[in-house]
Amino acid sequence: HPGDGYLAWLQYRRITAGTNVDQYAAYNHLVVTEQDDVVIRSAVNELTQGMEGITGRKVSISGKTETTPSIIIGTFGTGLAIDKSFSTGVSDAVKAEGYALQTDSITGNIAIGAATPAGVLYGVFHLLRIMGTGGSVHNLNILENPVNQLRMINQWDNMDGSVERGYAGKSIFYEDNRVTSNLQRIQDYARLLASSGINAIAINNVNVHRVESRLLTEFLPDVAKLAAIFRAYAIKLFLSVNYASTIEIGGLSSADPLDSDVREWWRTAASEIYAEIPDFGGFLVKADSENRPGPFTYGRDHADGANMLAEALKPHGGIVIWRCFVYNCKQDWRDRTTDRARAAYDHFQPLDGRFMDNVILQVKNGPIDFQVREPVSPLLGAMPKTNQVIEFQIAQEYTGQQRHVCYLIPQWKKIMDFDTQLQGEGTTIQRIVEGDVHGNPYSGFAAVSNIGNDTNWTGHLLAQANLYGYGRLAWNPEMSAEEIAMEWITLTFGTNELLVQTILNILMNSWVIYESYTAPLGVGFMVNPDHHYGPNVDGYEYSMWGTYHFADCYGMGVDRTTATGTGYTSQYARINMELYESLESCPDELLLFFHHVPYNHVLHSGKTVIQHIYDTHFEGAERAAGLLDAWKLVKGQVDEEAYQHVANRLAEQAEHAKEWRDRINTYFLRKSGIADQWGRTIY
Ligand code: GCU
Repeated sequence: HPGDGYLAWLQYRRITAGTNVDQYAAYNHLVVTEQDDVVIRSAVNELTQGMEGITGRKVSISGKTETTPSIIIGTFGTGLAIDKSFSTGVSDAVKAEGYALQTDSITGNIAIGAATPAGVLYGVFHLLRIMGTGGSVHNLNILENPVNQLRMINQWDNMDGSVERGYAGKSIFYEDNRVTSNLQRIQDYARLLASSGINAIAINNVNVHRVESRLLTEFLPDVAKLAAIFRAYAIKLFLSVNYASTIEIGGLSSADPLDSDVREWWRTAASEIYAEIPDFGGFLVKADSENRPGPFTYGRDHADGANMLAEALKPHGGIVIWRCFVYNCKQDWRDRTTDRARAAYDHFQPLDGRFMDNVILQVKNGPIDFQVREPVSPLLGAMPKTNQVIEFQIAQEYTGQQRHVCYLIPQWKKIMDFDTQLQGEGTTIQRIVEGDVHGNPYSGFAAVSNIGNDTNWTGHLLAQANLYGYGRLAWNPEMSAEEIAMEWITLTFGTNELLVQTILNILMNSWVIYESYTAPLGVGFMVNPDHHYGPNVDGYEYSMWGTYHFADCYGMGVDRTTATGTGYTSQYARINMELYESLESCPDELLLFFHHVPYNHVLHSGKTVIQHIYDTHFEGAERAAGLLDAWKLVKGQVDEEAYQHVANRLAEQAEHAKEWRDRINTYFLRKSGIADQWGRTIY
C-alpha cells in the first residue's frame, strides 16, 4: 500500500509532472553485457523496476545498443558499448566502488560505467535518484567515488526476535531462536541499504548471548544464505561474536587470547566460516563491556584480544572490528574520581601501535553514550597507528525512541566538522574518519540500525530519513543535512512544494527541539532507567552506570576540568582542552558536561543557567506542539494513512514534551528555589 511506508525512498512512482518528465519516457531500452554477475543482476533489476515505475513503460534489455537513446551499464573493459562511452581519463578516475554517469550529447545514451559491479549498482541508484527527484538527465556528467571506505550498519538483533534498543517492532532477521525464512524482507532491506550506499552489515547484536554464539557454527548455513542476499547488493556480512566463544560453544575452559588452544579454536572457526562464505567480512566484538566477557579476565589487554581474532581472520582477508565502548559499569556513585567519559581513551589510546593491521577500533561519536548532545570523543584521531571507524546510533535510544521526531544528520554533521586540532588546524573528524589524516588502511562509518519488522521499517515514518541520511553521509560527508533531507523527502513523498517544505522544516528543527525539552546544556541522561524513555532527572543519579549530573541546591554539572575535576579535558589537543577547561570559553551547549556551576551562572547567551532551563523547556514543549500544527496543514496533500500515522506520533510527542518540561522545571525549581523570571506555571 502506497502510504504504509514499506517502499520507503524506493517508490519509483510514476512521474507525471515537472519540467523533465518528457525526457525520462525515451529511456526504455537497457544495454548490459555482464548478465551473469549477481550485483549487476541486482542493478539491472533495480533499473528495470525503477524505469518501468517512473515512465510507466516496459523496459527491454539486450547485450548491445539497438536503439537510441539507451541506458548502457557495465564495468570498464567488458564490452564495446560501455567502453566507447567513456574516455580513459574518466575510467582511470573511477575508484573501486565509484562510477561515472554520462549522457552522450549526440545519441542521448546514458552510460553508467564503473570499475566494479558494486560501482555499477551505485551508479544505477544515482540515476534513479535523479529521476525520482525530477532532475534532468540531459547532459549528465557525473563522477563519484565514496569518501568513506567502510559504510557499515550494525543490527542489534537477537535470535529470539527481539531487537536491543529496537523501536520499530521485532527483528526481520530472527524469530524463535532461528534465522528467518522471510528472505524477501531481508532482500528489500538490502536494497534500501545499497541504495543509500551501505557496503557492510553485522547481522546480530553486539551483546552476543548463548544462542547467537552458535551463528558461527551450527547456524552457519543460514548465515550463508543471508550473506548471499547481501552479496547481491554489494554488502559484506559480518557477525558479532562472543569473545568467550571458546568456553560458550567450544568446549574449552579458557578464552585467554594467548592460550594456544584458544587461538587454534578461532583459526578453525574462521576457516569453517570462509569455506561457507568466501567473502565473509569478519567479526564485530564488544568485549569487557557491560558484563560481556573479554581479555581482562586473563590479565590481557584489548590488543591481545583483538589480535588473536585478527590472526585467525587474516589468511582469509577478514577484519576484526573491536568496539571501544569499554568502561566500568559497576562504578560506585559515591566515587567522584572515576569518570566514565574518560574510559575509552584511557583504555585504548596507550595501545596505539599494538593492533594488527586488520583490526579496526570502533569508537562511539561521544565519550558517554549517544546523548542528544555530547562533545566529540577525544579518542577519534588520537591513535595514528591504528585503524578507526566512528560509531553513530541511528536507533533513537536517547533521542525520542522513534516516537519523537529527531532528524540526526545535523548532529552528525556537527561531529564531522569538529576540529580535533590533533595535527594542527583543520584536523577535522571528517578527515580522520575518511582516513586522510593518518593514512590507515581501513576507516569509515558504522552505525546502529533503527529498523524492525514494522511495515514502515522505522516505527516513525520520519525516522526513515535517519537511515537514508546515514548512508548518504557515509558516502559523501560533504552533503549538507538539508540536501540529504530534500532528497529523502522528494523520493519518499514526491515534489508537492507545501509538503516538501513542511517536512523539511520539521526535520531540520527536530534535533534542537528535542534537545530543548530534555536534559539541558550537555549534561545528558535524566531518563528513566533501563528502557531510557521519558524524563527521570535522578533516574541514574545514584546508580553504578557513571552518568551523573550532581545537582544540589546550589548548582549542577560535572567538573571534568584538569584543574579541579576529573581531568577529562586533558584528553583533547591543547587548544580544545583550553576551550573546554575555561568557563569563559566553554560553549554553552556543553557547559554542564564540563563544569559544575551555580544556577545563577550567566551563560554567553546572557541568561542564567536556571532561566535557560526554564525558557528552553517552555519553548521546547511549545515548538513540539508547533510541529503537529505544521503537519495538520498538509492534510490532503499526502496519503491519508501516512498523514494519520505521522499526526499520531507528533501528537504523542507534543504531550510527552509537556511531561519533560514539567518534570525538569519542577525538579530544578525545587532544588534551586529560584523562581521563573516570567512567572509561568511550574508545579
Ligand atoms: C548502550 C545501550 C546498550 C548497548 C550499549 C552498547 O549502553 O543502552 O543497550 O548494548 O550501548 O553500545 O554496547
